[in-house]
Amino acid sequence: MDADTAVQRRLPRWSELAPLLRMRSLSTDPVARRLARAHTIGDLEAIARRRAPRAVFDYVAGAAEGEVSLERARDAYRRVEFQPHALHDVSTIDASTRILGRPSSLPLVLAPTGFTRMMQHEGEPAVARAARAAGIPYALSTMGTTSPEDVAAAAPGGEHWFQLYLWRDRAASEQLVDSARAAGFDTLVLTVDTPVPGSRLRDIRNGLTIPPTLTARTVADMARHPAWWVNLLTTRPLEFAALTSFDGTVAELVATMFDPALTMADLQWLRREWAGTLVVKGVLSVDDACRVADAGADAVVLSNHGGRQLDRAPSPLELLPEVVAAVGDRVEVFIDTGITNGGDIAAAVGMGATAALVGRAYLYGLMAGGQRGVEHSVDILAAELVRTMQLVGARSLQELHGRVRLRG
Ligand SMILES: Cc1cc2nc3c(=O)[nH]c(=O)nc-3n(C[C@H](O)[C@H](O)[C@H](O)COP(=O)(O)O)c2cc1C
Repeated sequence: MDADTAVQRRLPRWSELAPLLRMRSLSTDPVARRLARAHTIGDLEAIARRRAPRAVFDYVAGAAEGEVSLERARDAYRRVEFQPHALHDVSTIDASTRILGRPSSLPLVLAPTGFTRMMQHEGEPAVARAARAAGIPYALSTMGTTSPEDVAAAAPGGEHWFQLYLWRDRAASEQLVDSARAAGFDTLVLTVDTPVPGSRLRDIRNGLTIPPTLTARTVADMARHPAWWVNLLTTRPLEFAALTSFDGTVAELVATMFDPALTMADLQWLRREWAGTLVVKGVLSVDDACRVADAGADAVVLSNHGGRQLDRAPSPLELLPEVVAAVGDRVEVFIDTGITNGGDIAAAVGMGATAALVGRAYLYGLMAGGQRGVEHSVDILAAELVRTMQLVGARSLQELHGRVRLRG
């Protein structure tokens, strides 16, 4: 007798089938449907890739030269090994912290990104509102497509920082700082890893201009990404809040803004000018971290700018323990580049960072679903962070300390 004839078969009853056939209630809201399919930042990236024109997606995803800085930064997070403790009550987890003296619900900051309304028409106001809803800070870029006043008005009461490029034209920089101060921003983030623009080969090859110009190629693209183009053409024209009448290529704009003659004396000047909180972003050595702390900064961001500037730069995570040991008692140490998972944030905090900044992770959310997409990105990162803490056996961010090492 074979196995099949030994099994007694029968027809299922309807009462048994009905629960199996119960349809999941399908939302009629296309954004909700799209976001419900995204369980990771990678899923959001895949949606962003489909929805935006190739040149726009590449502007976000791409990095400089051979894109080695970005790849290595990501690889450092893959080399993380957590040291879990079992048999700890992790039924309640507290992932909140203080960032620059203020409470934050997560050790997470939404990083400054230029041209955000090009990625998706809701742009910076959507990011600011999502950050406020999550109870975390958001840094508006000098190259933002929304003014500091409009961001403040879009998300009153939010924790807004302003990222500054000190341009060659110092009077223009001062005006910019004044407008941020007048809009109520009290934290400045000075980016120091841009003496000259990095070579983003994808943008050069794609001939990216901001706003995108109507060429034969872009017109052909309209058929493939109609929603993106309709949104671009039917909302406020894309312009830089800081520089309203510029219509060159990205490379030309960036070259106008960046100052290769910037020195520590400029940082000292800014420290005297700016009474608020000062963060210096783009530090990649212990020595520089010490000099920046000596100059009176309140925090440093270990960052290689998402791999978009110097290629083959140090990986921020590898540098973190040394920098924290050298200056951690004087300044807060933040980190960015290559963070795609809440477990990455847990690793960075475990190795001494006060908070992590993410750029692409929230931009992909924005491109996938506007403000709700950014909120979804933050929810994904928060859920991953909390789950990692529970599996490591850490009830608070402090309990992550010493539970992380980098393999080989
Ligand atoms: C599209 C894009 C635009 C950016 N624009 C700026 C900017 O205007 N100013 C700045 O300081 N950093 C800028 N950055 C760098 C981010 O602030 C941050 O350092 C980087 O995105 C972190 O890496 P991640 O994208 O892997 O999280 C930009 C990054 C991206 C992806």
